[in-house]
Amino acid sequence: MFSRLVRPSVISARNFSTSKQANYKVAVCGASGGIGQPLSLLLKINPLVSELSLYDLVHTPGVAADLSHIETPAKVKGFNGPENLKEALKNANVIIIPAGVPRKPGMTRDDLFNTNAGIVKALAECAAEVAPDALIGIITNPVNSAVPIAAEVLKKAGKFDPKRVFGISTLDIVRANTFIAEAKGLNPKDVNVPVIGGHSGVTIIPLLSRVTPSVSFPQDQLEALTSRIQEAGTEVVKAKAGAGSATLSMAYAGARFANSLLRGLKGESNVIEAAYVQSDVTEAEYFSTPLVLGKKGLEKNLGLGQLSDYEQELLKKAMPELKKNIEAGIKFANS
Ligand code: NAI
Repeated sequence: MFSRLVRPSVISARNFSTSKQANYKVAVCGASGGIGQPLSLLLKINPLVSELSLYDLVHTPGVAADLSHIETPAKVKGFNGPENLKEALKNANVIIIPAGVPRKPGMTRDDLFNTNAGIVKALAECAAEVAPDALIGIITNPVNSAVPIAAEVLKKAGKFDPKRVFGISTLDIVRANTFIAEAKGLNPKDVNVPVIGGHSGVTIIPLLSRVTPSVSFPQDQLEALTSRIQEAGTEVVKAKAGAGSATLSMAYAGARFANSLLRGLKGESNVIEAAYVQSDVTEAEYFSTPLVLGKKGLEKNLGLGQLSDYEQELLKKAMPELKKNIEAGIKFANS
């Protein structure tokens, strides 16, 4: 199943044939931030985007003016402040949310909950009202709780469709592809590592028994690679030494995921990406597995597949943490 994964090619409007162009409005919430700016740049050069709506509390006029000079068809508009949020999201086909505070050294993603939960809640409330059909991709941490928050808000508004709400865990896959390629001397673009579960520490479950092309490692290296993939975000937080968390690699991963959503919307077949969605493949109510994406978002959940004994153990370890994170999100949204 994973061998059919197609890695998105360079996302550039000038390199694509016009037949690939389509008319989709994509909104970015948190567009002036460390992730938001490079993500918006990558979306501006995506030929599937006809309108790029940039929302933030600050600086969007400048970011929009800057991006609008790039010689690609997408029309860019900037919206500053809550009073302009509705207009920013109105009738969006895809909404990507990297709004919120990032980690500093010593912080876990859960430490961001108090600030970011309210931000996600407010954005989801507005999306329910003015863009009920949008596909929503959430980058804001803690993703494990942020997705249940958005889902609960949409449920309350009678607008929840589990096929349309995604936690973006693509960066875990991007990192795993890179690290495994490095370890085996392969070209990263040829490597596909399934990563399932959630998006924090032990809830990130790389399936190194199912890498394409097939690879194997002695147990100690397997454990070291698994833990590096799980803690890769912290590696960046430490290296940035107080200046934030992953932004550029996350922008790439967010753009890759948004591009896959758009390719699915457009009716392309075999668009497969993993994401953290409402799920019944485990006892956790939300879980990331590879998904087939289509015209209405999630078309088919490809499930867990075969796990090695080691991966079964990782899954067992992840479950209590994941369920706790989900519960916290649901409780917050309903409080
Ligand atoms: P940043 O601080 O550079 O940017 C965040 C932006 O959000 C700022 O421009 C800020 O003005 C804006 N913002 C704050 N409140 C807002 C609101 N109510 N409405 C709209 N915009 C608002 O942070 P950065 O580095 O871009 O990270 C953003 C989020 O992404 C963090 O929560 C971080 O933990 C998360 N993240 C997620 C990853 C993933 O794999 N899912 C990877 C890396 C970061």
